Amino acid sequence: MTIQQLDRLTVLGAGVLGGQIAWHSAFKGKQVMVYDLYEKGLAQCRTDQQRYAEIYLAELGASAADLEATRSRLSFTTDMAAAAAQADLVIEAVPEAPEIKIATYGELAKHLPAHSLIATNSSTLLPSQFAAATGRPEKYCALHFANLIWQMNVAEVMAHAETARDTLTAVTRFAIEIGMVPIPVRKEQNGYVLNSWLVALLQASLSLVVNGVSTPQDVDRTFMITNRCAVGPCGIADVVGMTTAYNISSYWGAVNNDEQLLKNAAYIKAHYLDRGKLGLQTGAGFYQYPDPEYAQAGFLDIPDPGRAEEIASLAFPT
Ligand SMILES: NC(=O)c1ccc[n+]([C@@H]2O[C@H](COP(=O)([O-])OP(=O)(O)OC[C@H]3O[C@@H](n4cnc5c(N)ncnc54)[C@H](O)[C@@H]3O)[C@@H](O)[C@H]2O)c1
Repeated sequence: MTIQQLDRLTVLGAGVLGGQIAWHSAFKGKQVMVYDLYEKGLAQCRTDQQRYAEIYLAELGASAADLEATRSRLSFTTDMAAAAAQADLVIEAVPEAPEIKIATYGELAKHLPAHSLIATNSSTLLPSQFAAATGRPEKYCALHFANLIWQMNVAEVMAHAETARDTLTAVTRFAIEIGMVPIPVRKEQNGYVLNSWLVALLQASLSLVVNGVSTPQDVDRTFMITNRCAVGPCGIADVVGMTTAYNISSYWGAVNNDEQLLKNAAYIKAHYLDRGKLGLQTGAGFYQYPDPEYAQAGFLDIPDPGRAEEIASLAFPT
């Protein structure tokens, strides 16, 4: 069997994940077109990618020439026809809202060449929900990346009932070519492997904050000490971004008639979205960046015994 070679990538949605997928694929040698509905989305993406360039230089051993070559392989557009025309593979990373994804696939279908494959990077929705909207269900599947793609290099590969084997093979090979460890998900599952537990963890943490049981700092302290890791769930939520956290909370709150999730969505909107605090990307979320409190010296230290009264007083309802 000849596997279709996927060298020219188009990413739809230039946000947190779209920007990372585009940058990393270009770094690994793919020709990449980034599409967003809004100029401001593309502008934010360019700013984000400057930050990624610094990280690749400092942490991944990239040279200035590597970064220059990466930039030369990236193009940006708000014109769907131009975005679609060059694609062997389209990765859809528009907001986690079914109506936006359906509208995007409908527009894409008008312009996409016959040979092109499409993969969704949706966090919690299923490819079978959108297969018909793509107009080419056999050429469609999910390819789900983790945030901070250069460190967390897994790509979950998930088919729906009509995905052709050749499609999944070509998409899996693409993932390997850009340095991912592919994780085949053997049945359609909202959230794949990763988000089946990550979304549950983030929602449980958010509920503790929203219900006044704890603070982002104490949730993260507890998690970081007991799991011996460098970031906790509220720090992770900032990396995910408040827009996606909101979309997931409000969508699943409505679908499952889950009052707590709807409460979490309302809290994110009032405290973060409406105040322009979208998480790490905009420099503020639960924490302030670039030097968040959870990464500062002393965050996990045993306190001085003289602080016992102050700390104990926090354990009484206010
Ligand atoms: N943030 C994460 O950690 C993460 C991880 C894995 C997967 N995902 C998934 O990736 C997708 C994108 O999430 P994100 O966090 O990057 O979102 P985001 O909110 O950061 O970015 C979304 C981008 O889409 C643009 N946009 C809005 N409407 C559009 C439209 N109709 N057409 C094209 N672009 C449009 C916005 O301008 C923005 O640039 C979602 O399905 C999400 O579930 C997110």
